[in-house]
Amino acid sequence: MPASPATLKAEQEKTLGAPRRRCGLLARLLFLGMDLVYGRKRTLSKFTVLEVIARVPYQAWEQVAYVAMTHTYRTPGFARRVFEFIKESRIQQDNEQWHLLILEEWLQKDGIQESFLLYRLAPQFVALFYYHISWLLYAINPKRSYALNADFEDHAEHEYMEFVREHPELESRPFDSEFCADYGEFDSRADLLRQIGLDERHHKEESLARIAEARFS
Ligand SMILES: [Fe+2]
Ligand SMILES: [Fe+2]
Repeated sequence: MPASPATLKAEQEKTLGAPRRRCGLLARLLFLGMDLVYGRKRTLSKFTVLEVIARVPYQAWEQVAYVAMTHTYRTPGFARRVFEFIKESRIQQDNEQWHLLILEEWLQKDGIQESFLLYRLAPQFVALFYYHISWLLYAINPKRSYALNADFEDHAEHEYMEFVREHPELESRPFDSEFCADYGEFDSRADLLRQIGLDERHHKEESLARIAEARFS
């Protein structure tokens, strides 16, 4: 359910007024690597790279959780809690998928073409690597995998909201998409990106809540 235009503007200000999260080494290396390869400038094309990578921690957790269910179904109460977690990961993964499809549709409508190597092939390799890192960290200690994801989502949240600030012309560009029925209707492209930024904040908060749960369980 999309937020109202007034709420989206207020949430953007909230993000812009908040400090960025102190990231761990892995996240810093990833962001540095992306800046070196794609440049520091925020672009829609760079956001699609971010979205290709954003889905994979949820895929990794889902897969680990399914294996866990196979080993724990004899304790149905526990297996059910694992299943609830799978459903939550699934929702976040689908949400990231809409982000990716909507941005890709936007790039194609505007006729923005990028290098196949840098914007199609390279992100898939990074995503594959990131998947294994997320999976491995989760197997060692789930909190570390959630913390990496929180770093990633915090970065995405700030980048989207900064991008909207840098591009006031987006306020008067209508959002027209074949994915409106799936993701929502928005008055402008600026509001669409604010909603995506807000989603990223929610993903971050969900990962931080998981860390807190692990600490107190
Ligand atoms: Fe996203
Ligand atoms: Fe996200």
